[in-house]
Amino acid sequence: MKDTIQQLETMRESARLGGGASRIAKQHAKGKLTARERIEILLDEGSFEEWDMFVEHRCTDFGMADQKVAGDGVVTGYGMINGRLVFVFSQDFTVFGGALSEAHAEKICKVMDHAMKVGAPVIGLNDSGGARIQEGVASLGGYAEVFQRNVMASGVIPQISLIMGPCAGGAVYSPAMTDFIFMVRDSSYMFVTGPEVVKTVTHEEVTAEELGGATTHTTKSGVADLAFENDVEALLMTRRFFNYLPLSNRSGVPVRPSGDAADRADYSLDTLVPENPNKPYDIKELIVKVVDDGDFFELQPENAQNIVIGMARMEGRTVGIVANNPLVLAGCLDIKSSIKAARFVRFCDAFGIPLITFVDVPGFLPGTSQEYGGIIKHGSKLLYAYAECTVPKVTVITRKAYGGAYDVMSSKHLRGDVNLAWPNAEIAVMGAKGAVEIIFRDDKDDPQKLAAREAEYKARFANPFVAGARGFIEDVIWPHETRKRICRSLAMLKNKKLENPWRKHGNIPL
Ligand code: HXC
Repeated sequence: MKDTIQQLETMRESARLGGGASRIAKQHAKGKLTARERIEILLDEGSFEEWDMFVEHRCTDFGMADQKVAGDGVVTGYGMINGRLVFVFSQDFTVFGGALSEAHAEKICKVMDHAMKVGAPVIGLNDSGGARIQEGVASLGGYAEVFQRNVMASGVIPQISLIMGPCAGGAVYSPAMTDFIFMVRDSSYMFVTGPEVVKTVTHEEVTAEELGGATTHTTKSGVADLAFENDVEALLMTRRFFNYLPLSNRSGVPVRPSGDAADRADYSLDTLVPENPNKPYDIKELIVKVVDDGDFFELQPENAQNIVIGMARMEGRTVGIVANNPLVLAGCLDIKSSIKAARFVRFCDAFGIPLITFVDVPGFLPGTSQEYGGIIKHGSKLLYAYAECTVPKVTVITRKAYGGAYDVMSSKHLRGDVNLAWPNAEIAVMGAKGAVEIIFRDDKDDPQKLAAREAEYKARFANPFVAGARGFIEDVIWPHETRKRICRSLAMLKNKKLENPWRKHGNIPL
């Protein structure tokens, strides 16, 4: 028995060393932690239960029969984040560059299957050279098994990907199908084809960082949600983010008691919106002043900044926030912002997270680049997402709600539950100036007449009362009481039940 225990300890020790001391040193020299060090930071101390530490690959080609490392390049298992269950896999770059073999994929699939069975999120720490080249198609099959599970788990359990090293080729499609992607600056990249291939095919010269680094994916492509300075920051922020998430689509949102009173008034909000309707203001100021303890976890802050999305809490319960930001492009909806918000709305809906929408939107962004880029199809994604959504929806119009964008932004007509407006809200087909220039075209050479028409149009339509008269908004509220009114609405909606008609699935305009 003693010998067996000794043998077990030796085997464990060897498995924990992964690819060996020199490769670990190389990993550290790149500013990267090892797969196990990452798990230690991510999970509550001592909570990690490792599985399949002794799994080995089965490849015999290219001398691989003699090159077996226990665990085969990925550390898998489950543990806790602030006492809540989570499954993890962490690719070990010190073992064959974290490359994915058939056995490596089986380990990942096992934790994904269990996560779905018990209803707990999966966090994947990606650091891999891609398909295990020596294994050929067996490795590709392994990827596809993971992809299939990503899709089956979508909307059932939250899936988060941290990109902490290379992630290239078809390998990118597993993280792409998870709910959130966080990247580490300067040490991670994601691309379908690398700089060499790009150079050969398109003659473009580009570095790996420029092509698929954290900055590229959080500012240009919108593929990633957040970028962090280093592994430690990425892991600690993932712990923080995890606290907002339901464990599954059946668990309900987590509750974190807060001392922030539901009826807390904030009088500074009464002057947030400038007198001049064309002057911008920062919608994030409103968000921070309304949510519990000013604690707002923003996602994609550098991408499509004309719309703001993120997680917060109201009376301790997680909510999703979507808000037009007049500070950027006057808060217009465009292709990128529609896609960004639509995916977030669908995440919240899938996991029962109530949505709060702050509206200040002058319409869709005009222009050939938008039309040629397919704003019709992309804009309708957000419309579709809000219309399909059955979670509690509370909408506050702070200023402009014009045209089709009014309809889109969680309006009453898309089953908004409680729609409120601030007193200076303008709910109309368009701004007064644009409106009179169209309907009183004949007066275009008479500025005085036009000004009078504009004033008349403003008085008639540029206010919340026309919509109020039709019941399109429940009430006109003082800005300072916004938090109280939202909290009350959410409390009233806590047991909301709404089901869409049976169907295999809808056909969202992709
Ligand atoms: C097997 C691999 C590997 C791979 C790296 N290694 N990638 N082993 N299969 N895919 C091994 C290396 O041989 C090396 O072994 C160790 O990992 C570290 O690699 P280095 O090259 O020394 O590290 P670095 O300089 O940091 O470069 C990392 C890298 C590079 C950029 C990832 O290794 C690389 O380009 N690898 C190949 C990438 C690739 O083409 N993958 C297949 C893509 S196709 P030793 O023993 O020296 O430590 C794909 C299809 C997926 O993934 C399709 C899904 C549908």
